[in-house]
Amino acid sequence: MKLHLQALEADIPQTSSKTNKELKNIMSQIDMMMSEIRRIASNLRPTVLDDFGLVAALKLLCKEIQKLHSLKIRFQAEALDDPHDEYAEIAVYRIVQEALSNIAKHAGASAVSVRLSRRDNAMALVVTDNGKGFAPENISQQEDSGGGLGLLSMKERAELLGGSFRIDSAPHRGTTINVVIPFNGLNAHEKDQDPDRR
Ligand SMILES: Nc1ncnc2c1ncn2[C@@H]1O[C@H](COP(=O)(O)OP(=O)(O)OP(=O)(O)O)[C@@H](O)[C@H]1O
Ligand SMILES: [Mg+2]
Repeated sequence: MKLHLQALEADIPQTSSKTNKELKNIMSQIDMMMSEIRRIASNLRPTVLDDFGLVAALKLLCKEIQKLHSLKIRFQAEALDDPHDEYAEIAVYRIVQEALSNIAKHAGASAVSVRLSRRDNAMALVVTDNGKGFAPENISQQEDSGGGLGLLSMKERAELLGGSFRIDSAPHRGTTINVVIPFNGLNAHEKDQDPDRR
């Protein structure tokens, strides 16, 4: 649409300033729509997953955070491409993203390990840091009083897909999160067609 309008704009005589102004208005609305759509789409499925697949996308993410926060991140993953489950992959990617962001923000860690492996018909994810740790039981009590949403959203993502989420942490002992996410073997298109999942 924007290209069409730009072509139109070139055809309109400079003297018709009202039409030109209106066209500029429409084009800036299209710009806003484009960035809004991009924002929504990136929340749904990170494009890096489409471009590289889960393992390579996680490797890139670890590299990026390592560089930004001078952390040493060790990443290990088994080949997980088969069976393929888009929803499980999005969940794992978002959970690692939040776990690493928590480590960068709160842990004061120097070393982090991210391990992804295959367990029966599921993916098992373990993220460990050697930072200052915390008391998870105190955090869950604060959920209603405006505390963060990261831990809760990781748990929800895992449980919505029939998986599990567990935190092991204690002050001065670092933090480990354990996530298991089953493969349901559905891609996004099939999931839309499945009446049980609508
Ligand atoms: N790896 C970690 N090391 C130390 N403390 C942590 C770690 N992960 C979480 N925490 C503690 O748990 C709290 C809750 O984490 P959560 O991700 O839910 O919220 P947040 O990071 O504070 O905010 P948000 O994720 O919404 O931006 C954090 O404020 C922090 O005190
Ligand atoms: Mg957080």
